[in-house]
Amino acid sequence: AKKAVLGPLVGAVDQGTSSTRFLVFNSKTAELLSHHQVEIKQEFPREGWVEQDPKEILQSVYECIEKTCEKLGQLNIDISNIKAIGVSNQRETTVVWDKLTGEPLYNAVAAPVSPGPSDPVAVVPSGSSVPAAGASSVWLDLRTQSTVENLSKRIPGNNNFVKSKTGLPLSTYFSAVKLRWLLDNVRKVQKAVEEDRALFGTIDSWLIWSLTGGANGGVHCTDVTNASRTMLFNIHSLEWDKELCEFFEIPMKVLPNVRSSSEIYGLMCLGDQSAALVGQMCFQDGQAKNTYGTGCFLLCNTGRKCVFSEHGLLTTVAYKLGRDKPVYYALEGSVAIAGAVIRWLRDNLGIIKSSEEIARRGGQSETHCGLGTPRRPLFYLLVNNLKKSGKKLAKEVGTSYGCYFVPAFSGLYAPYWEPSARGIICGLTQFTNKCHIAFAALEAVCFQTREILDAMNRDCGIPLSHLQVDGGMTNNKILMQLQADILYIPVVKPSMPETTALGAAMAAGAAEGVGVWSLEPEDLSAVTMERFEPQINAEESEIRYSTWKKAVMKSVGWVT
Ligand code: G3P
Repeated sequence: AKKAVLGPLVGAVDQGTSSTRFLVFNSKTAELLSHHQVEIKQEFPREGWVEQDPKEILQSVYECIEKTCEKLGQLNIDISNIKAIGVSNQRETTVVWDKLTGEPLYNAVAAPVSPGPSDPVAVVPSGSSVPAAGASSVWLDLRTQSTVENLSKRIPGNNNFVKSKTGLPLSTYFSAVKLRWLLDNVRKVQKAVEEDRALFGTIDSWLIWSLTGGANGGVHCTDVTNASRTMLFNIHSLEWDKELCEFFEIPMKVLPNVRSSSEIYGLMCLGDQSAALVGQMCFQDGQAKNTYGTGCFLLCNTGRKCVFSEHGLLTTVAYKLGRDKPVYYALEGSVAIAGAVIRWLRDNLGIIKSSEEIARRGGQSETHCGLGTPRRPLFYLLVNNLKKSGKKLAKEVGTSYGCYFVPAFSGLYAPYWEPSARGIICGLTQFTNKCHIAFAALEAVCFQTREILDAMNRDCGIPLSHLQVDGGMTNNKILMQLQADILYIPVVKPSMPETTALGAAMAAGAAEGVGVWSLEPEDLSAVTMERFEPQINAEESEIRYSTWKKAVMKSVGWVT
């Protein structure tokens, strides 16, 4: 069959916490031509622990690339038109592997049921929920809380030591403490470090090393955006920081080479949230985007200035699009749990059958909140009210009926940084049913974003006039309308929500030596925008928000 004629194509691996995707874009229009997605397992071997299997992650990348290429073939698109592949990835998640064998070294399952006292891997309980191969410590993991507490007692100089160099608070979220934990607790990791066989990396490094040859000469590198989430990287000098490595007692020889976010090193890469910033074309000072994935991440470009937050936000590297290009910074509000709460409703409570169910556009007769009868239409009230014109009382359009859900499963990240918080559902009455809880979960995503936006506005001084959003959850129009109502500013979403992958593809396509993407707005002609205006009255919006804050306060201090 005749092959369709297109401009140069660029692929993107988007390796997120919940799923892996491979997407192929037309570099002249940003049209998404084909993609494939695979869900990734998350293991919870102990309370507070979150692990994934690096080999499963790698396998999922191969599978997605293969399936996408098959689909392109069915569309008569020649895959030899793919000129570059970018990578965007869940950040902070920590992998240590053996450079001679290519095997991840945190072999949780290899822990014998009764291990010898010299084998500290014994701290990992055996059990069917432990992954079958090496495991990576996921960004949400809380096992390093005591490591963090011990480290915070011996911070040299003033308390600003870590934040002034990295833009980050000392928290379980970032890689340095996860790596410290592996060095302290996993004999295989200690031995490999002693024998000079250990390599550390976030998921980008692990994938790039594996995809560029692995044990046969794989490239051990990361980019400035991922490096800036390790708590070992100096965001001013753009180098691994010797003093930080000494403080965390991390041997510098295990660290990857740090490169820009757009150059040929086999592949190009960006941390997923930076990639989304690029995909939304937020290249100007003051432009911001919010991405709804497993968590929710609002980044505001602060240009070439490294702005430090006074209101609980992180300072992070936004991007550096080329070896000789300047570095740009961002203020970031990170919310740990967004899409993950929907997955929790499905996997832990079983009150929805699929994530799509809650994400389905409201109002259709089949939209209900899950298993069993009676089937109460989850969005019925909301959609009917939205159909009417004029401002609505939140009470009318919302269906949580006073139920508030704070999904602080991993403590609270920005703007609180409260590891002592745990999830709560409150405001329950005998009237409350699973639909209300599901709705409260959606609202929680919006309230958490509002908290970040407030902090961002305070730090920047100039309030955002609208919010650019992206990510899978933005397909849910109800969520987007709720978000506009709760923020009380318009929410603007692109027709193609896979902005993270698009940004990685753009960085790859624009790299020196590839040069098929110009990063000009006309190269995004296939992307159209949809706008959601606030529909409730401002007073109602404030009342709901202040009730949410009350609920947040109840979740704080749960773990002492
Ligand atoms: O910092 C964690 C973040 O990069 C995870 O992103 O897409 O899995 O929510 P995502």
